[in-house]
Amino acid sequence: MSTVLQPQTTEAVAATAPSRQEFESQVATVLRSQRHRNADLFVIDAPGHRMVVKDFSSKSWWIRILGRMQIAHECRAYRWLGDMRGIPRFVGRIDRYALAIEKVEVTQLTYAVNRYSAGARHLAGLTSVLKEFRSRGFVHLDLRGRRNVMIRPDGEIVVLDLAGAIWFRPDGFWFRLFRPLIEANDRNTLFKWKVLLTPDALTDQERASLRRFRRLQRVWFFNRKGSYDDKWPMTFPRAIELRHPDGR
Ligand SMILES: Nc1ncnc2c1ncn2[C@@H]1O[C@H](COP(=O)(O)OP(=O)(O)OP(=O)(O)O)[C@@H](O)[C@H]1O
Ligand SMILES: [Mg+2]
Repeated sequence: MSTVLQPQTTEAVAATAPSRQEFESQVATVLRSQRHRNADLFVIDAPGHRMVVKDFSSKSWWIRILGRMQIAHECRAYRWLGDMRGIPRFVGRIDRYALAIEKVEVTQLTYAVNRYSAGARHLAGLTSVLKEFRSRGFVHLDLRGRRNVMIRPDGEIVVLDLAGAIWFRPDGFWFRLFRPLIEANDRNTLFKWKVLLTPDALTDQERASLRRFRRLQRVWFFNRKGSYDDKWPMTFPRAIELRHPDGR
């Protein structure tokens, strides 16, 4: 509990964040620019380091308002976590609509060629990131989908996208109050990843609960139009054999 890091100061991070003009002149790659509601993403080649910039400045006025709030929130989240393993280093806020973070060499964990063979190690890596988050009173809330959990070539798990996170003083009343819910959320997240990474290690009880979930999903018409991301890995049909090897 006492391990919480002090948030970085605004001055410290602002010192290395590029200005908008610098950022616009240093764009090396456009990672994404066509999505209506999401930020544009750019890779910046600044002297000495590569950064990813998340930028809402070219969006419609109402997306810019939401984007501005999202950028402010995500900057606060990075500052709260400080210098932590398992997340990219925060560079700083560029202006109201954009922030810069270290570019990490990662791929989505779901696409890792060794996601089964080294599944237990990946799961342990993600478990330890979640533990670090908890020790800082931090809850990511968007790790059940596949898009925010990445892996470096050396096998280290890296978590992206802190826009949906919440956090509390880890020794405070609110964290103590919500701790059971937070722990349940973490267990749930890890269970989802366990299904994908180490399906053979599922207990009979876990297989039964997945089967129940799938049956419910078939009749749950609200969920019909859910995105693939909402349903994975429950919809990873070939990857996960829910029957017990003995036929149970
Ligand atoms: N620091 C980074 N280093 C490398 N790639 C990154 C970095 N930040 C983001 N990306 C890439 O951009 C993608 C989207 O980033 P992020 O999740 O932060 O934005 P988003 O608007 O929430 O997008 P999505 O809705 O796809 O999750 C990531 O899945 C990753 O591929
Ligand atoms: Mg994301």
